Amino acid sequence: MKPTNSPKTYRVKSFGCQMNVYDGERMAEMLGERGIVPAPEGEDADLVVLNTCHIREKAAEKVYSDIGRLTKGKTQDKAPMIAVAGCVAQAEGEEIMARAPAVSMVVGPQAYHRLPEMLDKAVQGERATDTDMPAIAKFAALPERKRTNPASFLTVQEGCDKFCTYCVVPYTRGAEISRPYGDLVTEARKLVDAGAKEITLLGQNVSAWSGENDKGQAVGLAGLIRDLAKVDGLARIRYTTSHPADMDADLIAAHGEIDKLMPFLHLPVQAGSDRVLKAMNRSHTAESYLRLLERFRAARPDLALSGDFIVGFPGETDAEFEETLKLVDAVGYAQAFSFKYSPRPGTPAASMEGQVAKEVMDERLQRLQAALNRDQWAFNRATEGRTCEVLVERKGKHPGQWLGKTPWLQSAWFEGDVGIGDLVQVELVEAGPNSLAGRLRERVAA
Ligand code: 5AD
Ligand code: SF4
Repeated sequence: MKPTNSPKTYRVKSFGCQMNVYDGERMAEMLGERGIVPAPEGEDADLVVLNTCHIREKAAEKVYSDIGRLTKGKTQDKAPMIAVAGCVAQAEGEEIMARAPAVSMVVGPQAYHRLPEMLDKAVQGERATDTDMPAIAKFAALPERKRTNPASFLTVQEGCDKFCTYCVVPYTRGAEISRPYGDLVTEARKLVDAGAKEITLLGQNVSAWSGENDKGQAVGLAGLIRDLAKVDGLARIRYTTSHPADMDADLIAAHGEIDKLMPFLHLPVQAGSDRVLKAMNRSHTAESYLRLLERFRAARPDLALSGDFIVGFPGETDAEFEETLKLVDAVGYAQAFSFKYSPRPGTPAASMEGQVAKEVMDERLQRLQAALNRDQWAFNRATEGRTCEVLVERKGKHPGQWLGKTPWLQSAWFEGDVGIGDLVQVELVEAGPNSLAGRLRERVAA
């Protein structure tokens, strides 16, 4: 590649999970430190970071088509500089470099703190790949947090040791590691100073977080949440994503005791059949999952539940799929994500017998989503008439309209004299399938 001018504008395109959103923000901050500014909306950027997700279907193809779109009809000096980051970079970095000459940098999710050095090389015309997995080193090397959204993310844990047989995460994000307690408290304070009112603690297996507090005592996620709740100016705490195996009594109790911990739990179950759950290497049954939820609901009766589902796991029969629907009926989710199984290269399930036909998966997904949508709307209707606290996150579509989140993570829109980051009391007037119309009652002193 030829040496080129230093990029002046950037765009980070993040796909997939919230951890990628967090990583994308941190990469943007690093580029900002370099004096590179976000490209204005509608204009081409000099540097595009494709922050990819590998978890479900056609991830790699999507990267190549994005690269194609960015470079189509452009000579090398007109085309943007391209960096591929995220889990596809980790899993298929070498191949991307070989197949896509337009890509100058490939950087894995544990190595993106080295993006500035790679950028220096790229400007000299040198292509660079970094898919090392030094994990914790990354966080220490990132710049301080200076600006943020009222609802911010904080990665507390990365990687996964669970090895569900369908999932690439243990391979792309590596083994479970927890960021140290002190670093997290410091980063949370910085986020609050920068304007955060709500922090969502992120991890592939966030409930497996463990550390040592400032008194040298071993603490789990509940202990971390208890201490973060003492941070002045922080009004709300959430966490995601959890695995049923790591939900301990302390975390359950925390839901009943800590006002700042929002009444919402995202706890993926994946399927309702015990045979399928076993083949997925999930260490729970449908029954043990339901019992666990009962304990959470006993601690916090208004808890809203969310989950992830996969339909068409290899060997799943019609009768086994019906058990998923039965479980959905039993739980009554406030929201959920559902996916068709997609074989991920290198995972055990990809070579299992009994891969399910696409049409069968389509039909199952439709039925599951109909049930989940029905329950989501019912949950929204059940909150109609309540007045609750809403965190204003952005302007709505119409002038004078604002959009915020209820404690149960529903989107509520309303009109009134408020600003982004305000905590206000809103009466939930009318429930739709995906959001609620509200009426502003009063502002809450922050
Ligand atoms: N196919 C379909 N869905 C998957 N997920 C993870 N791997 C796969 C796969 N191979 C889903 C799971 C997980 C969510 C983040 O993505 O439901 O909880
Ligand atoms: Fe993947 Fe299972 Fe780990 Fe979740 S718990 S990241 S689904 S291996």
